[in-house]
Amino acid sequence: MLKTIPFFTLRFQNKDIEKEIFSFYKELHADAWYVLGKRVSQFEKEYAAYHSVKECIGVGNGLDALILTLRALHIGKDDEVIVPANSFIATVLAVSQVGATPILVEPDPKSFNITAEGIQRKITSKTKAIIPVHLYGLSCEMDGIISVAKKANLFIIEDNAQAHGATYKNKKTGSFGIVNATSFYPVKPLGAYGDGGAITTNDDALAKQIRLLGNYGSAEKYYYETIGVNSRLDEIQAGILSIKLNYLDRWNAERIELAALYSNVLKNIDGIQTPIISADCTHVFHQYVIQTEKRNSLQDHLLKAGIQTAIHYPVPPHLQKAYDFLNLKKGSLPIAEKLAETILSLPIYTGMKREEVEYVCEVIRTFYA
Ligand SMILES: Cc1ncc(COP(=O)(O)O)c(C=O)c1O
Repeated sequence: MLKTIPFFTLRFQNKDIEKEIFSFYKELHADAWYVLGKRVSQFEKEYAAYHSVKECIGVGNGLDALILTLRALHIGKDDEVIVPANSFIATVLAVSQVGATPILVEPDPKSFNITAEGIQRKITSKTKAIIPVHLYGLSCEMDGIISVAKKANLFIIEDNAQAHGATYKNKKTGSFGIVNATSFYPVKPLGAYGDGGAITTNDDALAKQIRLLGNYGSAEKYYYETIGVNSRLDEIQAGILSIKLNYLDRWNAERIELAALYSNVLKNIDGIQTPIISADCTHVFHQYVIQTEKRNSLQDHLLKAGIQTAIHYPVPPHLQKAYDFLNLKKGSLPIAEKLAETILSLPIYTGMKREEVEYVCEVIRTFYA
């Protein structure tokens, strides 16, 4: 009988926390307090402590976390912000949303992350900030990025949406930038039961400003200091995230083991590039991404064997219709374009069985045999 292996499922995580979640629902129902209450404050404290930073501010989603950060740093028209050419669109959209220009940097073709050298080449007199994305769960090499940013007097804003729990030189991603943004979209390493996001920072003034901007521009009810928006983490999501944060390291460790199992087998297959992790970085495997020239036929072959896969992402931001105006034609960012044609994300999720990883590897091996 054909096995079916989903690309992703939250079924096993949900099973782990079922009892705690149900008792939390009961409490929430009895309290009947849904916006800006004790659960958000509690989660903000816990999430800040997890990153060893002073402040965390819960917001509506990861895109808003980036937009509010850029606004608090007064980045806008006539400014340039450096972003990876192969990130999820939201990193780029945030820059556009504040009226600044996204400057796309090619990633390292093996780590998928942007590097100090790539960033350096794109700095101009208009550059205000760099947004390193710890793509797929692998931390960027932060020392080089920090040193480039210092020399050019640029802000670092980490986009930690895919790397909750990852580290660089034993320090958590999401604690390096002046302000750092993250998403709790359900499939992320730390995922809510809907949309959610947060900002982490050691800067009290920026934390205060971001809190204000996300709450209509108000610190005191019915008094407005600035033109804000409504972007808040709600009590339901905060309560769920507090429960899940206690499991994050264990769940990450499970995926790290599964990834090692994949790499152990796949690294010996000619024609496949497995993920690389340099000594200072850790990878929490939000995605396990391989590269192969035969991507499309391998994907078909896997699907016929009941194995679902995905592509993160099939079209890089500069070739999206929304970014026609950047005038970056096909061929202008060859590494990002090539990756879009050769990357394949294999199934990986907490609760996936070792035998299932072995089965995926076996099906890949038969494809190349
Ligand atoms: C790298 C990256 N940045 C930003 C976001 C945006 O987060 P959200 O979906 O919560 O707006 C996501 C994920 O969705 C992401 O993967």
